[in-house]
Amino acid sequence: MTTTRLRAGAGRHRMLRWGTALALGTAAVFATAAPAAAAPAEVDSGHLDWGFKASFRAYVGTGNGTPPIGASNGATINANGTFRFPVTGGSYDAASGATTVNYGGTVVFSYPAHFFTITMANPTVQLDGATRVLKADVDLTTTGGGFEPVHVVQATVATIGAGDPVVTGTSVAWTSLGVTMTETGASAFGGFYGAGTALDPLSGAVTLAAGEEPGGPGEPGGASTDQELTVEVPGGPLSLSSAGGTVALTGATIGGAATGALNATTVSDLRGTNAGWNLVGQVEDFTGDAGTIGAGQLGWSPTATAAPGSGTVTAGGAATGLGTGHTLCKSDPGASAGVFTCGAGLTLNIPATTKPGSYTATLTLTLS
Ligand code: HEM
Repeated sequence: MTTTRLRAGAGRHRMLRWGTALALGTAAVFATAAPAAAAPAEVDSGHLDWGFKASFRAYVGTGNGTPPIGASNGATINANGTFRFPVTGGSYDAASGATTVNYGGTVVFSYPAHFFTITMANPTVQLDGATRVLKADVDLTTTGGGFEPVHVVQATVATIGAGDPVVTGTSVAWTSLGVTMTETGASAFGGFYGAGTALDPLSGAVTLAAGEEPGGPGEPGGASTDQELTVEVPGGPLSLSSAGGTVALTGATIGGAATGALNATTVSDLRGTNAGWNLVGQVEDFTGDAGTIGAGQLGWSPTATAAPGSGTVTAGGAATGLGTGHTLCKSDPGASAGVFTCGAGLTLNIPATTKPGSYTATLTLTLS
């Protein structure tokens, strides 16, 4: 009975460390969403609906003006008696909500029997933080009764109560905002109103200039900020390890063969270069007390598998005569990165002249 032992790489497996200085360089990831916060959008069109004060309209409307209440210069009278002023310009800042909208048009209240004509023109709505005001050009002309005339331009005639706009695409709309008369506003009405008098609520809708999606406070796209993320990735090793250091070839018969399996050998190409690699095996003669079996008698049938996410590996061809180097497995340049497992079925032909005994050889795997 002859037992042939193959010592495959015992204490000889090699670890080649390449390219630890091969930096992959800088990988940059940009966490980028929308462009940076936009400038305020220009107001393109729209209108203001405001009736000033329903009781005043009723008071003057029953007077002897011809007409008692008129609208001109672009202003119109709505079916419910309130007025509509057309937009002439302005801006809307989605990020802050700051709004200034200028309107055109003139409304004339005329009451000859009570000696007065009052015009209100070119209202401006300004909503900017705590400043929420309605400005207008107001004229009081009198024809008697001892009333003092009043003439103010873009005076703050009222304050505007709380209320955010509804933003839809390029449309920005405010509905029924409360309006309260200021001292300046009251001065133009002959002392019949005091500061703090509640006026009609106002509503307005504007369309922003094309291409100026506003977003809005709290809405996506209202603002953005970028952060650049970087990471330095150093190159790793090209390394080799085996699951075991000895292999017992069994079933030997003189004039026949012994067989076994190479321990699974793992190649890790973590250099990041995809430079390719080649794993070559070569065996020495088998020696023992009884004699020698030549290295050329050993053959193998290599196998190779790639771990998920790895590149491509090719098993070497079946070969006999491992006294010279033969490829166990290899990976060509371009797809060599990853982790691969290579193995082989081993067959040792035992010549008929072989003497019984114990024989040992070292098979060396070299990765390059
Ligand atoms: C510059 C002149 C005048 C101005 C600016 C003026 C303005 C006003 C205003 C703002 C009101 C309050 C309307 C409301 O909101 O209810 C009012 C009411 C009234 N005014 Fe005049 N007025 C003027 C002259 C006169 C004169 C000369 C008379 C009398 C001949 C007069 C008789 C009245 C009366 C009777 C009311 C109460 C109407 C009602 O409650 O139905 N006003 N006026």
